[in-house]
Amino acid sequence: MLIMEQLEVLEMPIKKHYQFPEDFIDKIICGDAVGVMKKIPDGVVDLVVTSPPYNIKNSTGNGLKDGRGGKWANAGLQKGYANYDDCMPHEQYVKWQRGCLTEMLRLIPETGAIFYNHKWRVQDGLLQDRQDIVGGFSVRQIIIWKRKGGLNFNPGYFLPTYEVVYVIAKPKFKLIPKANASGDVWEFTQEMKNEHPAAFPVNLIDRIVSSTDAKIVLDPFMGSGTTAISAINFKRNYIGIDISPEYCEMARKRIKDHQSQSKFW
Ligand SMILES: C[S@@+](CC[C@H](N)C(=O)[O-])C[C@H]1O[C@@H](n2cnc3c(N)ncnc32)[C@H](O)[C@@H]1O
Repeated sequence: MLIMEQLEVLEMPIKKHYQFPEDFIDKIICGDAVGVMKKIPDGVVDLVVTSPPYNIKNSTGNGLKDGRGGKWANAGLQKGYANYDDCMPHEQYVKWQRGCLTEMLRLIPETGAIFYNHKWRVQDGLLQDRQDIVGGFSVRQIIIWKRKGGLNFNPGYFLPTYEVVYVIAKPKFKLIPKANASGDVWEFTQEMKNEHPAAFPVNLIDRIVSSTDAKIVLDPFMGSGTTAISAINFKRNYIGIDISPEYCEMARKRIKDHQSQSKFW
């Protein structure tokens, strides 16, 4: 397992000198999200779509402590991620995520936006609504992603059935015509067939990508490659980053299979 001290020095483990665009466009890059984003010039990414690790193992015990987050297919997160233990002291986690958002904001132009998925949860009997992470960033809207109920039963509150997607937008960001008709409560069943323990459903990301005219889509926590699959579905370019060599390989294989299936059909 990687611990945070290791992560801080783990910048671009594969290659020292990266050139934009050739080393980034339509690539899955294995490394630390902030470290890799720092190698990308300002304003060259049109859209960021991402779901960071939720710090799920750092819990005061509301059904999440053992990883039974409810979203996850077969409670895969019980074992954690392949190369990341997802258990930081809360203050450190918030600082890290705010640093990630700052880098993402630098990478988008005045017409760009970040779709940042997170999960609210109850800690010590009180709602942890992630305001400490997104406070001060230009949040324009919160989309509710209604998914099927999970395993997170607790006598103190109703079964959580949604996650949120923060739309953090620069001033000139606009949806394509008619995309706004989707409303702000989206219902998609969580991903069941993915070996990654916390994969997005493709339909969710398809809706985001197809609602914009972004040419380059970045996911700094790419996991199994879902954002890349959506980018390909709508003929956009992607940049994917993940700390785990295992998930990077999973994403590369998934993209390759998807591309050959698309050609076949
Ligand atoms: C919630 S998952 C993303 C899943 C992805 N949306 C999908 O559809 O497969 C978060 C991912 O962040 C990765 N991760 C953890 N720490 C990281 C870091 N410092 N830099 C980049 N990726 C990291 C984990 O390996 C994990 O795959």
